[in-house]
Amino acid sequence: MKEKSEASSDFAKKKTLLEQRQYLPIFAVRQQLLNIIRDNSIVIVVGETGSGKTTQLTQYLHEDGYTSYGMVGCTQPRRVAAMSVAKRVSEEIGTNLGEEVGYAIRFEDCTSEKTLIKYMTDGILLRESLRESDLDHYSAVIMDEAHERSLNTDVLFGLLREVVSRRTDLKLIVTSATMDSDKFAAFFGNVPIFHIPGRTFPVDILFSKTPQEDYVEAAVKQALQIHLSGLIGDILIFMPGQEDIEVRDMALAVKNAPALAVLPIYSQLPSDLQAKIFQKAPDGVRKCIVATNIAETSLTVDGIMFVVDSGYCKLKVFNPRIGMDALQVYPISQANANQRSGRAGRTGPGQCYRLYTQSAYKNEMLTTTIPEIQRTNLANVVLLLKSLGVQDLLLFHFMDPPPEDNMLNSMYQLWILGALDNTGGLTPTGRLMVEFPLDPALSKVLIVSCDMGCSADILIIVSMLSVPAIFYRPKVRDQVREKFAVPESDHLTYLNVYMQWKNNNYSSAWCNEHFIHTKAMRKVREVRSQLKDIMVQQRMNLISCGSDWDIIRKCICAAYFHQAAKLKGIGEYVNVRTGMPCHLHPTSSLFGMGYTPDYIIYHELVMTTKEYMQCVTAVDGEWLAELGPMFYSIKHAGRSRQVRQSACKD
Ligand code: CDP
Ligand code: MG
Repeated sequence: MKEKSEASSDFAKKKTLLEQRQYLPIFAVRQQLLNIIRDNSIVIVVGETGSGKTTQLTQYLHEDGYTSYGMVGCTQPRRVAAMSVAKRVSEEIGTNLGEEVGYAIRFEDCTSEKTLIKYMTDGILLRESLRESDLDHYSAVIMDEAHERSLNTDVLFGLLREVVSRRTDLKLIVTSATMDSDKFAAFFGNVPIFHIPGRTFPVDILFSKTPQEDYVEAAVKQALQIHLSGLIGDILIFMPGQEDIEVRDMALAVKNAPALAVLPIYSQLPSDLQAKIFQKAPDGVRKCIVATNIAETSLTVDGIMFVVDSGYCKLKVFNPRIGMDALQVYPISQANANQRSGRAGRTGPGQCYRLYTQSAYKNEMLTTTIPEIQRTNLANVVLLLKSLGVQDLLLFHFMDPPPEDNMLNSMYQLWILGALDNTGGLTPTGRLMVEFPLDPALSKVLIVSCDMGCSADILIIVSMLSVPAIFYRPKVRDQVREKFAVPESDHLTYLNVYMQWKNNNYSSAWCNEHFIHTKAMRKVREVRSQLKDIMVQQRMNLISCGSDWDIIRKCICAAYFHQAAKLKGIGEYVNVRTGMPCHLHPTSSLFGMGYTPDYIIYHELVMTTKEYMQCVTAVDGEWLAELGPMFYSIKHAGRSRQVRQSACKD
């Protein structure tokens, strides 16, 4: 093993970045590609993962002069990909990140006046199209990873089709890692498809003989077996979600085996840790990357010879039972499975261990994943399209239209929040909500807070909610309870944490002392300042309610009354509207505190073993009736008063 890894690190050392670029499959067809782009406004480019689409296409267009009259933009469905690819390309070009080559993701703009090549999430380009409907700053737009069919990409498809018909000087390139590109070509008007010839090695596919009960355990066993077999090459394990990757068992099991570097990669991982997966392991050390489906096509790591595929991924799916989206674990599709196994055959022949049976692959998996637009809540999309002047959403040109029910349900939600009027038109509140890069309910709570005199406080809470992972995991509960817990509200607990941090001069030592991620808190501060800018721009007044935190709870209730639950037993709640049981999350300030309010509202539901409400706040039953009269009314029965579901629901 030692010999080989020395050999491969020699390879990388000896090859300059330029040589590495020239070694990529796309380089062999560079001129042909540029010709076809020259001759057509829209081109579909298909090529295996790792052929160089994401890193090279932007540079080719730059070298061919396109950046002389506008930027070359490249969209990614994932934030991590946008950041890491921009970094790589800035190195290849030899500039500092953020200068000629930059990236933009929500709440983080790493571009400058100099920027010629801009990587960004598809959500960013979508928002840019709000301000500048013809995307005049761009001479070319590459919509990367189109096969992922992310919600924003699908909406952009419909919008960009129109932009290209108005702007003959704009080039649109749509790239896909899979071969089902005919659909894209047809959608854009039978445009040409360019195939990058692949250079892949055979991959042995090994199915499980019997179904696995615990995929985490099975994956660990499989990885260790490979590791101890003495065969050469790095390992890539696909897990459905971050929790599975963080599972302690895995870390423990492999800790004792020598010369194995276990590296996680998932979208919420801090970026410095993410960068580690691309770095070479020391000589003689085998890398074992544990990834979510982020490594399926959007990130390419060289040197992978073994893939271990759990057969699952996490998808955001609209759940009619709870009336909102929930991230849940689902079996992957055959297309996913094939992409995953393909990762093992990039640098040499490889092996893929599928932790599911061949019959499950054939009979239980879908051929391809259902596009996000057909399975998630569309409230944000509806809001955006409405503000772009699309009157009848059912007539918008979608490649795969969302189910009508889904669309109507999202419009209903926006109506509840006061963003749409009875005729489906955008209200002034709705118009203001579009200004914020936030989910509609969060924008709404900010807007309401101005009238209720607690906007400065709500701004902090919204910022805290927009940044994941404030607390270090294991120690969190006790620490939070001891120091920060506000017994009636997780939202207020967040506010409390921020205020104390501020009182301690935003100190990182203070964060460490309290098991709080300093980086996350800095990010919160940054998000706060960006949201504040928007508020100032929109002439929204910033005032704090001081110590009267009841007003804050009522304000949150005004935007979240549709997510209310009523006490049923100890720690047990039921959704007021649907009667569905739901539980306090163990990390909640309210959990096991002996204080159990009759009514709470929740920020979101997470489904793991049970339906958990995450981030909850105690509210008065009367507020629910006052703020959400379309759902609730007060029932007077003798001396007790109860909130019940209004008769006039829907
Ligand atoms: O987009 P596609 O999958 O076709 O390929 P790419 O992302 O452009 O990757 C081409 C090559 O660039 C990979 O094989 C890696 O060697 C390298 N790369 C890298 O070293 N670091 C990155 N963050 C991205 C790509
Ligand atoms: Mg790519």
